[in-house]
Amino acid sequence: MQGAFVVFEGGDGVGKSTQAALLAEWLTDRGREVIRTFEPGDGPVNAQIREILLSRSTENLAPRAEALLFAADKAQHVHAIVRPALERGAVVVCDRYVDSTLAYQGAGRVLDMAEVERINWWGTDDLRPDLTVLLDLAPEAGLAGIASHDRMESAGEDFHARVRAGFLALAERDPARYLVLPAREPVTALSERIRARVAELLEGEHHHEVGRRGLLSALFDADRDPEPGEEVSDAPARLSP
Ligand code: TMP
Repeated sequence: MQGAFVVFEGGDGVGKSTQAALLAEWLTDRGREVIRTFEPGDGPVNAQIREILLSRSTENLAPRAEALLFAADKAQHVHAIVRPALERGAVVVCDRYVDSTLAYQGAGRVLDMAEVERINWWGTDDLRPDLTVLLDLAPEAGLAGIASHDRMESAGEDFHARVRAGFLALAERDPARYLVLPAREPVTALSERIRARVAELLEGEHHHEVGRRGLLSALFDADRDPEPGEEVSDAPARLSP
């Protein structure tokens, strides 16, 4: 059975965790192995990175340092949790992934989008979600439901407005891989729409091909396992002239 990588995205307080938990439960009931995970912070190294990123005692963190720390969290998370689960054929249900960085660090902190994208796809070795569920809500409505605001949640109204617009722009760029839903809808109505779309994904041909890699990483990664039918040489990998 092939794995599938389903990501929940959206602003703070939109109900991602509730929907991710409901989806995970539904998939488990249907006999799938499900790994429910989140960014930033799942894993021992990740928990330390999360503390730096979200603690309000972290002062004057440079936007580029912030972007690199979120990218480091993703690199470790994909390596230790997400990719091994997909290779076993599990469905990975993840709260937040690369789109969060593009929306918060790219759009929110106004960093160059292409550069933020590049460090993230490098960090994750180009692991793309099969489906991203974007729960859209006015930031003030989401933030109003959170009792004490962490460092990112305290970044201000304009910042969160840019984040929301950033998410919507990402979904518009690649509509086939997104399900965009108004987060104000009742929880059960949302979860039914999400189930229907995930059922389609799991029945269709869009599952994750874990062997998919970029040409450069395939050429330079000497420790990787050979693909079926590939000739293995002891010579150091190098690019042809
Ligand atoms: P959460 O665990 O409540 O979702 O908090 C994570 C916070 O970090 C949230 O405000 C979104 C933010 N964030 C980024 O700014 N960039 C990222 O790449 C990720 C994953 C989260």
